[in-house]
Amino acid sequence: ALPVILDVDTGVDDACALVLATLHPDLDLRAVTCVGGNAPLPDVVRNTLTVLEACSTTSVPVAAGASHPLLERPVDARHVHGDDGMADLGWPAPQGAADPRHAVDVLRETVDAAAAEGTPVTLVPLAPMTNVALFARMYPESFARIERIVFMGGGAMVSNATASAEFNVFHDPEATAVVLDASVDHHVPVTMYGLDVFYGPQVTLAEADELAELDERGPGALGAGLVRFMSRRFDKGSASIGDAGAVALLVDPDAVRTERLPVRVELAGTWTRGRTIVDTRDWTGDMDHDPHGLAHAHVDVALEIDGPRVAGLWLDTIRSAR
Ligand code: BDR
Ligand code: CA
Repeated sequence: ALPVILDVDTGVDDACALVLATLHPDLDLRAVTCVGGNAPLPDVVRNTLTVLEACSTTSVPVAAGASHPLLERPVDARHVHGDDGMADLGWPAPQGAADPRHAVDVLRETVDAAAAEGTPVTLVPLAPMTNVALFARMYPESFARIERIVFMGGGAMVSNATASAEFNVFHDPEATAVVLDASVDHHVPVTMYGLDVFYGPQVTLAEADELAELDERGPGALGAGLVRFMSRRFDKGSASIGDAGAVALLVDPDAVRTERLPVRVELAGTWTRGRTIVDTRDWTGDMDHDPHGLAHAHVDVALEIDGPRVAGLWLDTIRSAR
């Protein structure tokens, strides 16, 4: 199974991603690091523990990292994800506790241990990239040992937090820029699972009803609660599994079409701060001159997705987990 670390701001759709990473037999979840984003950091940690316990996973370390973006104050998304950041399901508090180490130390130790075993880790940031940027700058030699980064963030054509920018990148643009820059310096391949594909995999309310039959407080009931909440929020008969698509890409790469393209992050801009500039032109010479002196990242950008296939993978993983 592929060793993975998820960096999350759980988050309704981060919860969907954690369920998949925990239960899919082809994935070996080594650690989960938490960052402030959809909800304040303590809520993110609690939600993450709740999800792992619902999936009967108690041995994976869950560590708290950055509560704030590198430069700005946090602006959460509880208006989307619920007061508790995860669908206000009213479940009892988790029994376990967070790992005492800082997320950056968990990243370093987990990445180094996997590399020493000859099975390097794939890192999957599904949240503002503050923890990953700190890791890259504090422990560059360990960062270089990452096999690959597959992150949810940005978009070539589609935005959500502002007219220009996607939430994760908008929340901490400097962190995203630092990670892309470090990925060039340390030859870590990066895939961007952005908003162009993010809304593709949808789970219907009928499918949620079916999940709810599977268990009382397990992945079925949890998955059902998450899908029902987001369907209500957007007044639709279905919900996107969001961040879970980035995890699905690891086990079913052919469900997503990517193209290797130059990507930059807008750090200034009156209305465009946090936008990912994906250069789809044939000629990209002027991308070589970054005003901040950051390196020039070529990223595998997800541009098309077979949504039903990815949603089916998520549903099947929960159905066969019992
Ligand atoms: C991203 O922002 C968060 O609200 C979601 O969890 C996802 O990671 C989508 O823009
Ligand atoms: Ca997220």
